[in-house]
Amino acid sequence: MNGSAWSSVSRRLFVTGMFAALGTAPASAVAARPPGGVLLRARPATVSLGKRDVSTWAYDDILPGPLIEATAGGVVRARLINDLPAPTTVHWHGIRIDPRMDGAPGYTQPPTQPGGTFDYVFRVPDAGTYFYHSHVGMQNDRGLYGPLIVADPHEPLGYDQEVTVVLDDWLDGVAGTPDDALKRLNASTAHDDTMRSAVLGGVTGELRHSYYLVNGRMSAAPATFLSRPGRRVRFRVINAAADTAFRVALGGHRLTVTHTDGFPCAPVTVDTALIGMGERYDFLVTLDSGAFPLVAMAEGKSGRAFAVVRTARSAVTPPTNVEVPQLNGRRLKYQDLDARRADYLRPPSRTVTVKLGMRPSGNEWTLNDRLAADPLRVRVDRGETVRIVLDNQSPMWHPMHLHGHTFQLRVSGQRGPRKDTVNILPRERLNIDVHADNPGEWMFHCHNLYHQEQGMMGVLGYG
Ligand code: C2O
Ligand code: CU
Repeated sequence: MNGSAWSSVSRRLFVTGMFAALGTAPASAVAARPPGGVLLRARPATVSLGKRDVSTWAYDDILPGPLIEATAGGVVRARLINDLPAPTTVHWHGIRIDPRMDGAPGYTQPPTQPGGTFDYVFRVPDAGTYFYHSHVGMQNDRGLYGPLIVADPHEPLGYDQEVTVVLDDWLDGVAGTPDDALKRLNASTAHDDTMRSAVLGGVTGELRHSYYLVNGRMSAAPATFLSRPGRRVRFRVINAAADTAFRVALGGHRLTVTHTDGFPCAPVTVDTALIGMGERYDFLVTLDSGAFPLVAMAEGKSGRAFAVVRTARSAVTPPTNVEVPQLNGRRLKYQDLDARRADYLRPPSRTVTVKLGMRPSGNEWTLNDRLAADPLRVRVDRGETVRIVLDNQSPMWHPMHLHGHTFQLRVSGQRGPRKDTVNILPRERLNIDVHADNPGEWMFHCHNLYHQEQGMMGVLGYG
């Protein structure tokens, strides 16, 4: 299978306009696909990364998991079957979801036990590029993730083709539970300073990733996207990695950013964009004739993920290590992005400061000095808009993610894009405004999975 066969691993999810019963399926229905929905079977599998097979955990034995498609305003029905030897959940990253369906273990639902099943049934209010992943321990890093695309029934953007690009940093042998993962981390950190510093932040050191992947393919056998010269293509890029931000560029082309984290923004054209863990960007590109490298540099590390965009049959495949001049060109900054006016939030009624910190041990990451075991709880009132000042007092950057909402980024006092995940650089402060319009207890955490598992997890809650 090559990358152009992406559609062969996708399934169309049929969506109805009705919100059906929630909850766990009766045992007799376990192996059946729910009516109008998809089946996600989480289980140990051997998957091919192109030139190598690895034994890991995956959805439906493929990496990424199956593409789930829905239409804004519709309902997603996905039946999780847990054939893993550990409890699991599915989190629908970025969706303003019913909290019972959020897959946040211990917060909104108990994890589904081995041999168990859970029916996720939820409305998708907003069109956009999302993904789903396990929210238990390091399971996401094992390969339990996949794209979720919500189409706009009145899509205003004119384009001819769309391509979904899922980025990952592949580490062999990631354990499936937090305990195992941390044991493994601690074992490695005890012996290897390089690895240790990477675990701490992903920017100054290098976690020795085996591979960087585009749609589950390593550079040596890259994913290939087939198109035609002159086509306007919408690239939906998702960073599903645990510890790597990617700087993305397409050889010979500039990228027009149209969406961030699913939400439309005023279009801006750049050469390259940095995508933190959990962030998504949509780019529009009019393709030339030839074969072009799609490069995702692992920021602050030496590796890269690589794929080929091909519009001409005769063009030679670009070598993996080809220099892409765009990588040195104009970089996307948050300041460049603005939300649509219709998506502006009203000014906040109060401000809460959240300090992103590190304990001196270096193995614990905190929100206002608290760890996940006794988490920071931000209480707000339903209906209000709250400003959260994210004050990074640590030497590493953190892609902070809030469940169940999109917030509005405030950059130098100006209204910025609507997002659900935002990178805060070392010693930097960013303001986000959150409209409390979806009652629940919502996880609020760093999307560096190592930081998340080492304490950097809080709660935003209201009834
Ligand atoms: Cu993408 Cu709390 O997660
Ligand atoms: Cu972090």
